Amino acid sequence: MFFLEIIKILIIYNSVGLNALAKQLRAEGKDVLSFALGEPDFSAPAVVVNQAIESLRAGRQKYGPAGGGLEIRQAICAKLQRDNNLEYAPEQIVCGIGAKEILFHVFLSMLNPGDEVLIPAPYWVSYGDQIKACGAKPVIVPFTEDPLQPCYRAEMLEKYATERTVAIVLCSPNNPAGMVIDPQEMVALGEFLLRKDWWVISDEIYEYMTFGAEHLSIVNVAPQLKSRTVIINGLSKGFAMTGWRVGYCAAPQQMASYVKTLQSHSSTCIPPFIEDAAVIALNGGKDLMADQLLLLEERSKLALQLVRELHGVHVMEPKGAFYLFLDLRDRLQSSSFADRLASMPFCERLLKEEYVAAVPGDAFGCPGFLRLSYATDEDTIRAGIQRIARLLDRI
Ligand SMILES: Cc1ncc(COP(=O)(O)O)c(C=O)c1O
Repeated sequence: MFFLEIIKILIIYNSVGLNALAKQLRAEGKDVLSFALGEPDFSAPAVVVNQAIESLRAGRQKYGPAGGGLEIRQAICAKLQRDNNLEYAPEQIVCGIGAKEILFHVFLSMLNPGDEVLIPAPYWVSYGDQIKACGAKPVIVPFTEDPLQPCYRAEMLEKYATERTVAIVLCSPNNPAGMVIDPQEMVALGEFLLRKDWWVISDEIYEYMTFGAEHLSIVNVAPQLKSRTVIINGLSKGFAMTGWRVGYCAAPQQMASYVKTLQSHSSTCIPPFIEDAAVIALNGGKDLMADQLLLLEERSKLALQLVRELHGVHVMEPKGAFYLFLDLRDRLQSSSFADRLASMPFCERLLKEEYVAAVPGDAFGCPGFLRLSYATDEDTIRAGIQRIARLLDRI
């Protein structure tokens, strides 16, 4: 029964067909500017690429240990100590094919049918569907209007919690809004969560991409939560390694062993030559990407400044990741759509008429919004936002 539900959701999402349309327009020679992708336009650091090639040549081409070899798990522990001041043992780390797979296995390990999981909106698209695939229920906590941002306030979380709530998903820096939970808010959230017995899933995959803000894990401010927190991270964003598929979790040992068991019966392992390369990335840390992160910060400022010039458009205040989440509701209401929530048809027209690909907020639980990924060059950012302005003037 619930599989039908999932298929239905996937069909609704795919029915937008925006990706397919963007491809088709490109094939027709149209100058499509893409702000849709959730990946940096940089390549992985050269030392990482070289290590993968060397390891391949050295024959690291067979199965590796389920959940990751000791070396990569030790490198992750060292990273957690160095970057996050958190102490974990290798037995508490599980590696998998991207944070996405790890997260799915975490939900499968944690949830029973009927359980509820709180997810502040806007949220990354896969949380809800993965939770549904476990037979559990995502409960969306609406964002606040003033300030316009995802809501982690105790009174709001309390309002959406029931006796079936077993977990909450935190994502900071956030996809799609780039919001970073500030230290004060994190402390208050930690205090609230200590009064509950929920699992905390802390998705920190955009950790290296904070601009003028400090990345904090919930476990930094509320260490007692460590026994029921699962930190999710990976190399996709911070090291621009989306196609390498390296993700991991740091969890209480029992939970880690469940996740590892699921890994052993699904994808088994990260390819060993990729594991070797990932160790180089993990050991090198943020310094390996210093130039790229600086560039991203400059793009972030430029994109934000240009978007703020769009008449009647608001934006969730970003402090990280590489997204801007535009609130078009007022503008859509006063347009020929006459519908505050018409982000889907707006995106379709944006692609068809202006050849700009962006993701409608509907995908993140927020119709009426638009996600722009500014992990692209400055000329594209300028031209793309100009085209958006043009369509806004016409509707
Ligand atoms: C918030 C968030 N978490 C997790 C992921 C999954 O990353 P990956 O599976 O590439 O490691 C993404 C990817 O877009 C994301 O935006």
